[in-house]
Amino acid sequence: MTQTSYGLLKGKKGIIFGPLNEQSLGWKIALACHREGAKLAISNIATALKMGNTAELARICGQAPLLVADATSDDELKALFAELKTSLGEIDFIVHSVGMSANIRKKIPYESTNYIFYNKGLEISAISLHKIIRYALEAGVLKDNGSIVALSYIGAQRVFSQYNDMNDAKALLEAIARNFGSRLADRGIRVNTVSQSPTRTSAGSGISNFDAMYEYANLLAPLGNASGEECADYVVTLLSDLSRKVTMQNLYHDGGFSSAGISEKLLGLLERSQPEAGV
Ligand SMILES: NC(=O)c1ccc[n+]([C@@H]2O[C@H](COP(=O)([O-])OP(=O)(O)OC[C@H]3O[C@@H](n4cnc5c(N)ncnc54)[C@H](O)[C@@H]3O)[C@@H](O)[C@H]2O)c1
Repeated sequence: MTQTSYGLLKGKKGIIFGPLNEQSLGWKIALACHREGAKLAISNIATALKMGNTAELARICGQAPLLVADATSDDELKALFAELKTSLGEIDFIVHSVGMSANIRKKIPYESTNYIFYNKGLEISAISLHKIIRYALEAGVLKDNGSIVALSYIGAQRVFSQYNDMNDAKALLEAIARNFGSRLADRGIRVNTVSQSPTRTSAGSGISNFDAMYEYANLLAPLGNASGEECADYVVTLLSDLSRKVTMQNLYHDGGFSSAGISEKLLGLLERSQPEAGV
């Protein structure tokens, strides 16, 4: 369904970290923010800007400035926010749609984790949120009453075996969001995480058995999995003034998956697969 614009972000400016290609959640969020009237800047690491088609996204989003930064690098983030101040001016929102686990990519089991990869994964997927907020504040680029949203997954609360060390990274990401939320509340700035359903993106498809995880969630969630476009629409509401008293929350955007125990669809599948067990 193509969403019509409600003008929810009219007059607002923001930066989105992490669009890579048309499947990326960050990409869909950028399109939805543009549709709702925001002026945008877009950021990713240099290799991603070369590999992906982010330049095309920037064009579609009204010639949005494309700012290169490794979100784990203090120096690159400091330079990014200095550049952002010149190219876009002060901003109302930040979206963190960044994540990577080399342990997952290389299919290294949790028990025998490679600690260099583990630390790198935490740096990219969680501590980068801390750095982004910190250097935005130090640059004085974030306006009062703004909003910061990062993308999370229910692995932060429950163990999803194939999600490996990203379970840990998401728990840290959500904790950082809460901590900054409490510290920025006196300026009216909210910080939240959105815990999204499994979604077919390049990060998602790196997970072993992703299709099975996707189908399981889809069968359990009463509303079915939330799509990337639906995620983007939800994020827009959190960036808008309509959610100005929502902060320090991890908000599930998962079709009800997080509150569901079992579903008739899953029970039916079990019955058919194990009739002899009398399930
Ligand atoms: N796809 C899913 O099923 C799903 C579900 C819930 C949450 N999420 C989260 O959504 C966010 C976006 O992921 P996606 O699924 O759209 O995949 P994606 O691969 O399209 O996006 C991940 C982005 O992180 C960027 N990135 C990696 N290392 C970086 C670094 N050092 N500095 C800056 N950027 C870096 C990549 O270049 C890429 O653009 C991630 O936080 C992911 O964990 C994804």
